[in-house]
Amino acid sequence: MLHLAVFASGRGSNLRSIQRSIDEQRLEARIAMVLSNRRDALALEYARQAGIPAVTLAGVAADELSGFILDALAANKADFIALAGYMKLVPAAVIAAFRNRILNIHPALLPAFGGKGMYGHHVHEAVIASGAKVSGATVHIVDEEYDRGPIVIQRCVAVLDADTPDTLAARVLETEHTIYPEALQLFAANRIEVRDQRTYIRD
Ligand code: GRF
Repeated sequence: MLHLAVFASGRGSNLRSIQRSIDEQRLEARIAMVLSNRRDALALEYARQAGIPAVTLAGVAADELSGFILDALAANKADFIALAGYMKLVPAAVIAAFRNRILNIHPALLPAFGGKGMYGHHVHEAVIASGAKVSGATVHIVDEEYDRGPIVIQRCVAVLDADTPDTLAARVLETEHTIYPEALQLFAANRIEVRDQRTYIRD
């Protein structure tokens, strides 16, 4: 059973899909807290309405961030972090304290179309401009290098001739909502082993 802290900056559709998976007993977890760098994030609003502790980083000084986040995680007894549209870098001290226990979801097939500036519609624009025939979603472990940690699950989505960044984003998002809870469940069931920048799924 994971005690999840979900970090989100935006609308929170992945947050909601995680909660749905828990409710439908596809994911052995509970959402212990939701954290956002933005006071007005819809994800926080959802958390408040659902009675989940909602934590905002707004107003926290830069040099106090990692301590503040670690205190919030401890206070809410969170033991695993899921980044779901979180637009800020996670402080190194938090990554070190939660080694191999932080996941992120990216709306393309990493290691392509990732890294600095590759977020939201920029990703899907770049995929379409590249002429690639497939895109997809990636769940990976977060380490110190942006969008580079060991991959847990990837699933392909076709790029159609008529796709715009919006239509492709919508199709990729549906896949995100499936694979993120699946990846989290692999950790909940203790089935993931990490070796040499790769993950291996135990039976
Ligand atoms: C998703 O596309 C995710 O892959 C990316 O940010 C978006 C977040 O969407 N990292 P939502 O807030 O979960 O709806």
